[in-house]
Amino acid sequence: MDGTLITTTDRFFVRNHGDVPEVDPEAYRLSVGGMVAQPLELTLRDLQAFPAHHLIATLQCAGNRRRELAQIAPIPNELEWDMEAISTAEWRGARLRDVLDAAGVQADAAHVAFLGADRIEKQGEVIGLGGSIPLEKALHPDTLLAYAMNGAPLLPTHGYPVRALIPGYIGARSVKWLTEIVVQGEPSANYYQSHAYRLYSATASPEDQGIESGVMLGEVPVSSVITSPEPGAVLPPGDCLVSGYALGGTREIVRVEVSPDDGRSWQLATLRGESLPYAWRWWDARLALSPGQHMLVVRAWDSSANTQPERIETVWNVKGYMNNAWHRVPITAR
Ligand code: MTE
Repeated sequence: MDGTLITTTDRFFVRNHGDVPEVDPEAYRLSVGGMVAQPLELTLRDLQAFPAHHLIATLQCAGNRRRELAQIAPIPNELEWDMEAISTAEWRGARLRDVLDAAGVQADAAHVAFLGADRIEKQGEVIGLGGSIPLEKALHPDTLLAYAMNGAPLLPTHGYPVRALIPGYIGARSVKWLTEIVVQGEPSANYYQSHAYRLYSATASPEDQGIESGVMLGEVPVSSVITSPEPGAVLPPGDCLVSGYALGGTREIVRVEVSPDDGRSWQLATLRGESLPYAWRWWDARLALSPGQHMLVVRAWDSSANTQPERIETVWNVKGYMNNAWHRVPITAR
């Protein structure tokens, strides 16, 4: 986390629910079916023959910043990510829209489902990770079937040879080792869409509430974090450089504010680099710190004037997803 727009591939975060499948590029086939006029069976070369599109996009896991939520109340069986389940790359691939156009989407279709070639044991079954996005997002010109990342073929850990790349959505929808696309009337019934990656009310467990009461996650909300200084840092009093990233999902980041005193007073941060849709925006601010303990806080706004919730308690949920509360970092000036 060094303030650069692009994360080098060797430092890009990895989240795999099962083992990395080995996919032979020659034998690789991507099937496109369901509510289409003409089902397709595409090789990697077929896919690469569609016009190539590239874009810079940040991928963020829905569980980013779960560790802070777990300090409020335990979140068992989930990875305790700090703020590192997020990275940015330049992606290249075919537009999903072009592939769907070639197949001919039927008029009453509403969702596009993906399935990966991994084999994960879940509820006594072996399944691939799947998920779906609304048809409207699937037809967006920036929704990709990506085969390259940062100018090179995808690495096996990141989905070689092909992954979905759904910019502005939670990472789980960017299905890796993509083998199947199904156009359908309903969202995917795959475990990772129908059970996991849903936002439950904080008041009861999913089982007590009914699985279907969880809100299906898609677009990520506005968020920002302080990456420097680190919690517990001891710094000399006076001028203190505070920096971090902000992310607006599909929306632009328009403002970031930093507080030296747990939100009693605020100062505008400087946004660095250019504003790119889907990409994190690095920011920094200089705070004058008096001797003593300080609670540094950051909050951001997006172009729809959405901002972050003040209290982490208000975003706590049983699976620990989508923590976009104000990010607080306690430090001492001495
Ligand atoms: N796709 C498959 N097939 N299997 C997976 O386990 N993990 C998902 C998504 N796509 C996953 C997957 C999750 S939860 C995230 S956050 C992103 O991939 C992470 O992508 P990365 O490992 O390239 O950073």
